[in-house]
Amino acid sequence: MKTFPTSAAWCFWILYISVSLKTTGSSEVVGSADPVVAIAGDDVILPCSLKPSVNAEDMLVKWTRSYLKTENVHLYLDGRDSDEEQVPSYKGRTSMFYDELKNGNVSLKLTRVTLSDPGSYKCYIPSLTTSQVKETTVQLFVGAVSQPVISIVGTKDLGVVLKCESGGWYPEPGMEWLDSAGTILPADGPPERHRDSEDLYTLRRHVTVNKTDTNRFTCRVQQLEINHLRETEITVPDDVFPKSLAGLIVGLIAAAVAVAVIAALVGVYMRRKQHIEEKERRKEFEELGKWAVLSCVRVSYIQDI
Ligand SMILES: *[C@@H]1O[C@H](CO)[C@@H](O)[C@H](O)[C@H]1NC(C)=O
Ligand SMILES: *[C@@H]1O[C@H](CO)[C@@H](O)[C@H](O)[C@H]1NC(C)=O
Repeated sequence: MKTFPTSAAWCFWILYISVSLKTTGSSEVVGSADPVVAIAGDDVILPCSLKPSVNAEDMLVKWTRSYLKTENVHLYLDGRDSDEEQVPSYKGRTSMFYDELKNGNVSLKLTRVTLSDPGSYKCYIPSLTTSQVKETTVQLFVGAVSQPVISIVGTKDLGVVLKCESGGWYPEPGMEWLDSAGTILPADGPPERHRDSEDLYTLRRHVTVNKTDTNRFTCRVQQLEINHLRETEITVPDDVFPKSLAGLIVGLIAAAVAVAVIAALVGVYMRRKQHIEEKERRKEFEELGKWAVLSCVRVSYIQDI
């Protein structure tokens, strides 16, 4: 009589174990090996699910950060969200995919990510048995980007000095100048960089460009970790480029040669004209002389008569 309750208890316990093994099976918490990458202001999904899939609607799901002792990013408890011990900065920004819970999908949706959100997030399901993987960590990476701005600073020798500036980047990006064929141009030194009060990076880089077929140049700002690139293009007007000194000298020589040639031609013409005039004058004189001689002869002839 005494053994019945004991064996019944054993029986129920074994039943309970088998039922719980059937429901949670050998499911484990699986996240994502790749970090989740976002730009400040985006909404993101931090992936976490039970594999093989099992209904998680009645499980306790805890999303936390490693540096938090008791507070949560999000707590799902007794079939609903709980704002118990939630970190204030996450208030109103977290939710689960409630239709997906029955498929074991306990991913977290985080809206309007900020530059204080990046880091590791822990997805934790304490009700899994100790032999199962109860938690996983998902990395969140948040960046900030902005469009570069190009301006013409001045001229140097025969080139034009251009400046590219871009602020509001995170993490620190790279900045390059390219020609219209996409070849990286040697810039006037490395980019100048500084961080503002919000930890965002501003970059500035100068380049001196020579006249080309297109006069088109591009400034590229790129952040590989968040896989973002922003480009701005400029077409420098031809007349901004200084006139070449060699060209100027060639022009001056040409002008001087032209002047000399014209002067020589004028000289020759004048000389010729003078020559002709002289000849004519001489001819006139000769005629005059002839006439005078004739007249004299005539006079003397008349006198003789
Ligand atoms: C979980 O649900 C979200 C939202 O529908 C979806 O984007 C994600 O791919 C799901 N994850 C899995 C592992 O099914
Ligand atoms: C521009 O021309 C100068 C002089 O010919 C040369 O030294 C310089 O490298 C050129 N710059 C570029 C960007 O090609």
